Amino acid sequence: MSFLGSLSERDRVFDFLMPAQSPVDVRHGPILYLEDVTVSFDGFKAINDLNLTIDDGELRCIIGPNGAGKTTMMDIITGKTRPDTGKVWFGSRHNLLAMNEPEIASLGIGRKFQKPTVFEALSVFENLELAMAADKRILPTLTARMVEPVRERIEEVLETIGLTELRHRPAGILSHGQKQWLEIGMLLMQRPRLLLVDEPVAGMTEQEMERTAELLTGLAGKQSVVVVEHDMGFVRSIARKVTVLHQGSVLAEGSMDQVSNDPRVVEVYLGAPDEEA
Ligand SMILES: Nc1ncnc2c1ncn2[C@@H]1O[C@H](COP(=O)(O)OP(=O)(O)O)[C@@H](O)[C@H]1O
Ligand SMILES: [Mg+2]
Repeated sequence: MSFLGSLSERDRVFDFLMPAQSPVDVRHGPILYLEDVTVSFDGFKAINDLNLTIDDGELRCIIGPNGAGKTTMMDIITGKTRPDTGKVWFGSRHNLLAMNEPEIASLGIGRKFQKPTVFEALSVFENLELAMAADKRILPTLTARMVEPVRERIEEVLETIGLTELRHRPAGILSHGQKQWLEIGMLLMQRPRLLLVDEPVAGMTEQEMERTAELLTGLAGKQSVVVVEHDMGFVRSIARKVTVLHQGSVLAEGSMDQVSNDPRVVEVYLGAPDEEA
């Protein structure tokens, strides 16, 4: 077979190794765009006229007191919650409000929930292998020819999440922090364009937090990452641009120094101390 022929053959065979199907168009603007988004629960506006844009490859931290609407915002982006009004676009091509949860996920938006949900009885490696096939029907159809690139991708992700040494151990023996990394790795197997991470360092040791900071800053550029986090020290260690959410809207936005010196931000944090810290 000619060189070109073998290349196109590869592309066909390894289709599922390629980034998400419909490419997101960021030529004319941000990767994520929220405009005037409002959502009420029983008359209470959990999100109130929220405007937010995330650039392609950006690492953004979202902070804000409990109840500020951070998780609800992620629910809206991922299609779990429908806003009452507003616009939510992924690049300039995909109107997320016209799509359901699986459709949004298949565009390349990955979400890491607070609690790790790895398969404890399976090895670290097997967890990543399972995550590779979003469509689980693909697993039994993997031929020897496909196995090699899958293995390579898994090794790559193992390296990224720092679990290479533990790859054959059951996920159940991992520390809390390691489980969080494994779950991030499981999301990375799908090569998301945008990764949403809700409170990644809750319950982590100081050392695990440092490692997580390295992991997340290393991902930025390759994909866009939005991190919701309570821990100010952690946010300071990774943040480039920080958005402060309060009562469902953006209260302040800028560098960590800018927002932490903003009197309105100081007041919100002093007025509502963080019970989880
Ligand atoms: N499904 C729901 N039904 C009713 N109220 C909700 C629901 N989800 C969130 N809320 C309320 O919306 C507000 C924002 O919640 P949330 O987004 O979880 O805040 P955060 O993640 O910033 O702590 C809270 O007051 C919460 O009680
Ligand atoms: Mg929350």
